[in-house]
Amino acid sequence: MNSLTQSQSWKTLQSLAAQLDGQHMRDWFKDDPERADRFTLEACGISLDYSKNLITQDILDGLLSLAKQQQVAEKRDAMFCGDIINHTEERAVLHTALRNFSDKAVMVDGVDVMPEVMATQDKIRDFVERIHSGQHTGYTGKPLTEIVCIGIGGSFLGPKIMSEALKPYWHEGVNVHFVANVDGCHIHDVLAELDHEQTLVVMSSKSFTTQETLQNTLTAKDWFLQSGGKQQDIAKHFICVSSNIKAATEFGIAEENIFPMWDWVGGRYSLWSAIGLPIALRLGYAHYRELLEGAYNMDCHFQSAPLEQNLPMIMALLGVWYTNFLGAQSHVLLPYYHYLRGFPAYVQQLDMESNGKCIAGDKEHVDYATGPVIWGSEGTNGQHSFHQLIHQGKVLIPADFMLPLRVPNQNDTHHAMLASNCFGQTQALMQGKTYDEAYAELDSKGLSDEKRESLAHHKTMPGNKPSNTLLFQQLDPNTLGALVALYEHKVFVQGAIWGVNSFDQWGVELGKVLGNQVLDKIQNPQQPLDLDASTNALIQRFRQAL
Ligand code: F6P
Repeated sequence: MNSLTQSQSWKTLQSLAAQLDGQHMRDWFKDDPERADRFTLEACGISLDYSKNLITQDILDGLLSLAKQQQVAEKRDAMFCGDIINHTEERAVLHTALRNFSDKAVMVDGVDVMPEVMATQDKIRDFVERIHSGQHTGYTGKPLTEIVCIGIGGSFLGPKIMSEALKPYWHEGVNVHFVANVDGCHIHDVLAELDHEQTLVVMSSKSFTTQETLQNTLTAKDWFLQSGGKQQDIAKHFICVSSNIKAATEFGIAEENIFPMWDWVGGRYSLWSAIGLPIALRLGYAHYRELLEGAYNMDCHFQSAPLEQNLPMIMALLGVWYTNFLGAQSHVLLPYYHYLRGFPAYVQQLDMESNGKCIAGDKEHVDYATGPVIWGSEGTNGQHSFHQLIHQGKVLIPADFMLPLRVPNQNDTHHAMLASNCFGQTQALMQGKTYDEAYAELDSKGLSDEKRESLAHHKTMPGNKPSNTLLFQQLDPNTLGALVALYEHKVFVQGAIWGVNSFDQWGVELGKVLGNQVLDKIQNPQQPLDLDASTNALIQRFRQAL
């Protein structure tokens, strides 16, 4: 038994969960007209209505006690001041330093990292301005208007999804393309459309060892050379972002073309480092900086707001409630804004790679659930697909709905419909429809009693399904920065409660090693097939098809 599950706060929450049986949120709303007000918070341009959750004040108090017991605030402060909290990799966790707009020093191993951070910001600003102004041209003097960004995981999702989300703020005159997968179809399709004389390749890899990114960059380099570029022209067309300067220079990237990052920035938290360069190229430096400032605002809120008014804290505790006490295994994100459609995929890496762990502290195997499955897609599309299961299925799926109140080029009819669907879904999930209501609705349909009864059963909706509603005035760069930081800190709080290391990712390593062994056997048919029978047979089939 783990100390967490044996703790008083845990046991209190278990008994509160048992007392929920037979209670319904629709009654809570009827009995308490203040409920929506009481359970709404606002910070950094984001309003969170969490009143449609399966919580009472006692439950919330119990969750807050759990956070205190697990010393979440102390752990948060340790992260911000550069303690080595990623203990398996012996690293500090300081993505927050990359958006630190205070004049406070941030120390790592006794050295203030802020001058280096600021110098890199200056380098990004200068580079973006030189590309946008046409000062930095390709080898034939043509402006570089096609930016091909190569990276995967955190070196791809943040830059791509944030660029997409901020489409109304795009700088005109450049096109930005993203390639992640080693599946050659993608890089070939992207390059096929481009003029190499006008193409800039931005290769992003913190480690500079990632197979997909290295291979896609080699393919882009071959394409550039085969299209007429010469080896000496590469410096004008290829730049990279990495913390592994040695490997990058050995690969052939000129040192002045390397944008640095640091080992205290985790891959899935790296969009705030020079890994975010594609966002700056897409938006222009001023809007890119607003994105960072929004995240900084959320950092300040997270550090200073009392626990019960702290947005990341509350969202994290609600997640813990569902995961550990009500048996939820997944959490759905539903942005009602087309440009934010990639956000579920972004949070998927952030959350699942951070908290999908089973060891707490140094070596304790946990006996409780940790990170849930994160999934979702844009509204209203999901309503015509998977919402059925959320409404009437047998699994509990807490939801985060998101909606900007104003959108660019607003068409009032479209936007009113979008908003009404979003709000209507939260209402339907919460209140459901009773059997009596469903039966009464079938009154004038001329059905037999038997048919009417049966249909009423099918049309009954249990309700009591939890959701948060996050509203923004509009999704400008500042608000998006705050939103991303909100989810980062939510994940941090949950990891702190579960005692896992949210900043390593050992679970992805084995697959990489075995994949390389298999590659060796595929590329060298003389290699013996000495793996398990299934994998041997798969390799054999592949060899035969070559
Ligand atoms: O394989 C997982 C991972 O290491 C992620 O954590 C990271 O975001 C991604 O791969 C890319 O890594 P890199 O930036 O080092 O190429």
